[in-house]
Amino acid sequence: MKTLLDLISIEMREAFRSAGYDEELAKVTLSNRPDLCEYQCNGAMAGAKKYKKAPFMIAEEVVAGLKDSACFESAEVVKPGFINLKLAPEYVARYLNDMAKEEKLGVEEEENPRTVIIDYGGPNVAKPLHVGHLRSAIIGESVKRIMRYKGNKVIGDIHLGDWGYQMGLIITELKKRRPDLPYFDESFEGEYPKEAPFTISELEEIYPTASAYAKEHEDYREEALHATYLLQNGYRGYRAIWNHIMNVSVTDLKKNYEKLNVEFDLWKGEADAQQYIRDMVERLKSEGYARYDEGALVVDVQEETDNKEVPPCMILKSDGAALYDTTDLATLVEREQDYHPDEVIYVVDKRQELHFIQVFRCAKKTGIVRPETELKFLGFGTMNGKDGKPFKTREGGVMRLENLIREIDEEMYKKIIDNRTVEEEDAKKTAETVGLAAIKYGDLSNQASKDYIFDVDRFTSFEGNTGPYILYTIVRIKSILNKYTENGGSLENICITPAADAYEKSLMLQVLKFNDVINTVYSETAPHKICAYIYELANEFNKFYHETKILSEEDEEKKAGYIALLVLAKRVLETCIDLLGFEAPERM
Ligand code: ARG
Repeated sequence: MKTLLDLISIEMREAFRSAGYDEELAKVTLSNRPDLCEYQCNGAMAGAKKYKKAPFMIAEEVVAGLKDSACFESAEVVKPGFINLKLAPEYVARYLNDMAKEEKLGVEEEENPRTVIIDYGGPNVAKPLHVGHLRSAIIGESVKRIMRYKGNKVIGDIHLGDWGYQMGLIITELKKRRPDLPYFDESFEGEYPKEAPFTISELEEIYPTASAYAKEHEDYREEALHATYLLQNGYRGYRAIWNHIMNVSVTDLKKNYEKLNVEFDLWKGEADAQQYIRDMVERLKSEGYARYDEGALVVDVQEETDNKEVPPCMILKSDGAALYDTTDLATLVEREQDYHPDEVIYVVDKRQELHFIQVFRCAKKTGIVRPETELKFLGFGTMNGKDGKPFKTREGGVMRLENLIREIDEEMYKKIIDNRTVEEEDAKKTAETVGLAAIKYGDLSNQASKDYIFDVDRFTSFEGNTGPYILYTIVRIKSILNKYTENGGSLENICITPAADAYEKSLMLQVLKFNDVINTVYSETAPHKICAYIYELANEFNKFYHETKILSEEDEEKKAGYIALLVLAKRVLETCIDLLGFEAPERM
């Protein structure tokens, strides 16, 4: 379905053309003075020079041609030559009714769907999830849903950090504590136990203990590095421990991500890419892309137009070990082989930007990906505390994700209990639903690349630009619709009728922007624009609600028209929050 802006533009182009002017002038935009008009066209101003004519005269001629248009209620020329447009209420109602008939509310799917891989989440196995991983999960999930809504084939990959030094540390600490385990017996040839020798809470204690110890004890550190080396070279016993670490951690991670309403299609990680490294390195060498620099194997990625130094991509360290660059390149080899993606989007902390510039350049230059494959870095800013410094616990430690969520849920629970609209036993579940919206909306309403302040009080407020406010609005609509059906009204076969007043019309104009907004959000990969849109939509709805007697309206057709508009507004809001990755409760 064409967006309303497209439809008005067609109308205006026709008017310019038949008045004898270039139709390129007919650009229509949303009005920046909603008190005066709804849309505006400044084309006559732009045309004045070309046609050596007063803009006012051009505008008058164009407007004369709009007299019979069904689109506009009024088209007015304002000095020196602006054209102010107001849509005809019948036209708006018809558009909304058409929109309501569409499964995707007028959003058109991509004609040529693309295969897109989204690399997000990126937790490090055996280390607890912390708030730094929160943003990647929240933003990545939303981007995934938006791309999918537009009809693309989208694959979300968690890309676990599961191959590094932290694994060597855990193995070393385990060996210190339980040297008797068969994994450490070199002569052991039997089958290793199925059961892991630790639980998730033990694992989460083992890692920081080992990490701290290694910082103080050089020989222990050496041992951990060696264990990492043995693991990476396929040593059987360590590989078995690695499997245990993975099983235990992944089970725990799945639980955590489920709570966040974040779902990955692939649970691959750095370890999966290892098998592609050898061939890749050989090719980079034999085809002359790689060179040795002080023993390390590197690929130059500096370009002439750079005004800053971009260091070479590091393929192998002088001891032959693979690095972060290597893993990401090998992962692209794997992705190309398995999925042949048209685009790969990385949702990662913006401080890693240089790494991705190097990897992308190297992948393009060496043909790891096709020239037309789009590699995109979606770098996000830091989540700060109220003091403007990276978010910490009250004691100054790294805040664990679980605790942060608990804190928000407790705050929400208090508010929901105070409201007394939810039964005691449902309050906990409702608090979780609203709490998640508070966190996600608080994050997504900011442009991803910017730092933002995580403010529990503000995010959990039912008023202002917050998740709970949006949910509150949806709940309010649901309750009106419920009352309507309880009193015998039907939600089937009702039709939106032309706006009766300015409040209703404003609400309508906001609802019908949906497809336009989604197209922009999609092309700019900008979920924050969904937030801005639904905040305005919620405001328009609430103004309408306060000014209008909806359920007590006596004219049944008019009442049904209001209800039909509410049904559509609710669908738009619910679709939007689904794209953001959260949902609304029945009551709150
Ligand atoms: N595990 C990494 C970290 O915690 C993030 C991984 C990002 N994705 C990637 N393909 N490098 O910093």
